[in-house]
Amino acid sequence: MIQLEHVSKIFIGSEREHTALADINLTIEDGDIFGIIGESGAGKSTLVRCINLLERPTSGRILIDGNDITKLSGKGLLALRRDIGMIFQNFSLFQQRTVLQNVMFPLELTHTPKAQAEERARELLKLVGLANLAESYPSQLSGGQQQRVAIARALANSPKVMLCDEATSALDTMTTHAILNLLRDINRELGVTIILITHSMNVAEAVCNRIAVIEGGTIVEQGETKVVFANPQATITRALLGIEGSAASGIAAEAAAFVAQESGVTASVEADLDASDCCEGAGE
Ligand SMILES: Nc1ncnc2c1ncn2[C@@H]1O[C@H](COP(=O)(O)OP(=O)(O)O)[C@@H](O)[C@H]1O
Ligand SMILES: [Mg+2]
Repeated sequence: MIQLEHVSKIFIGSEREHTALADINLTIEDGDIFGIIGESGAGKSTLVRCINLLERPTSGRILIDGNDITKLSGKGLLALRRDIGMIFQNFSLFQQRTVLQNVMFPLELTHTPKAQAEERARELLKLVGLANLAESYPSQLSGGQQQRVAIARALANSPKVMLCDEATSALDTMTTHAILNLLRDINRELGVTIILITHSMNVAEAVCNRIAVIEGGTIVEQGETKVVFANPQATITRALLGIEGSAASGIAAEAAAFVAQESGVTASVEADLDASDCCEGAGE
């Protein structure tokens, strides 16, 4: 189980501070496919990067199976990263290495004997459906195939948790479905807990059993996917679902409200002017 308790992250720039996460509280159960959903800049990547300590929270605790990981360093940190695989939108493969060598890379870091590492890598390539492309280079593969390599590489050290940061955002619809099916199989068959970041409600609905919606660094809504979809509470969730128009038209609505407020002010100023004209006129 992963628990985030009052997690905040403040980036301190040269000119100003920026609160990317504010008092985040979340519980992710073993075996979940947990979706974190929000628009660009909401804080999704920062949130998952705190879970493997690519970012350190400014305050709060992150407990994995009851142990606070936020103070880890050295060997403890290496062990944590081994237990948590990660995949990204842009695949992040080593271009100079073959598919097989990419998947063997994490096993080299853990000093796995070469023959054993190769056997494990080939087994994983079979699992992701790429056994016949082991000797190819990433540039020779499609986006979906590259993401499969990244998934195999993330699984090399048998992690308990996999973090997926917009893993399907660069893929077309068919390929997205194939990758989501693969992630679901990995979750079910290997028992890997998956934390899936996305800006797409369709992706969340397809695979997540629970979701949290994040806006401006704050969780505005969370729960079982079907419950949130059936009865979304937060304005941003409704906008993402297209109930109150798209998120973009949410912005348009804000702009319209601003214009209405402005014209309200203008109208009342005009009314004041009219009134004074009237009074002046009345005085004449
Ligand atoms: N290293 C950093 N330094 C300063 N600001 C950052 C850094 N990383 C992210 N941010 C800011 O934090 C906010 C959240 O970013 P991010 O977590 O990447 O959002 P998302 O993944 O939802 O698009 C953004 O405003 C972003 O500009
Ligand atoms: Mg991001």
